[in-house]
Amino acid sequence: MIFNAGAAAVGHAPFCPRIEDLYCGPWGEEIRRLRPARVTAMIFRQLFDSVSSTYTYLIASRRGGEALIIDPVLEKVDRYIQLVDELDLRLVKAVDTHLHADHITGLGALRDRTHCITVMGEMAKVDVVSMRVTEGDKLTIEGLALDVLYTPGHTDDSYSYLMGDRVFTGDTLLIRGTGRTDFQNGSAQAQYQSLFGKLLKLPDETTTRAKRSRPSARRRRSTRVCR
Ligand SMILES: [Fe+2]
Repeated sequence: MIFNAGAAAVGHAPFCPRIEDLYCGPWGEEIRRLRPARVTAMIFRQLFDSVSSTYTYLIASRRGGEALIIDPVLEKVDRYIQLVDELDLRLVKAVDTHLHADHITGLGALRDRTHCITVMGEMAKVDVVSMRVTEGDKLTIEGLALDVLYTPGHTDDSYSYLMGDRVFTGDTLLIRGTGRTDFQNGSAQAQYQSLFGKLLKLPDETTTRAKRSRPSARRRRSTRVCR
């Protein structure tokens, strides 16, 4: 079963996906995984922008302090940098899962202020990123690696990132829903293949880290959202 972990950010206690996770907090987890020969540590934070209903993820290796951020929002860049400083980390990569229509990306501002590498998939029709990835690539920071999955459908430049027991799905797979397919070269057929041919074939213990929660009917009426 795939668990929509991001739902925790709307007020419920989060799940602890694996028994070796020693601590899970409502807005993130400081995970210390016990291995037979050594102890490795990963910092994981789920952040939320209430205006665009966007979930942003900060991942870092505790040992060397290298950090990676997924789907940052421009208006929250100060907060991200503050958090990185508080955790004594160094932001080395900023990633967008796809070209966003519901918020302005924070990639450029983060690059300007931290000199991080900006990353998108090779299908993205933008010329401001410094690194492009494709299906089968590994996106790495010290001690951590994310497998790149091409998951078009919501848009034709949508990518997901698999890291161990969790997958970052952008708007391809939302919390209680899927992303719309009627703009930005979206395709319902491609979305079906991405969902049932890739994401839903991941191991049952894989948890989904979506970019957003499917908004309520009331919210859909009052705001423009990228569903
Ligand atoms: Fe989107």
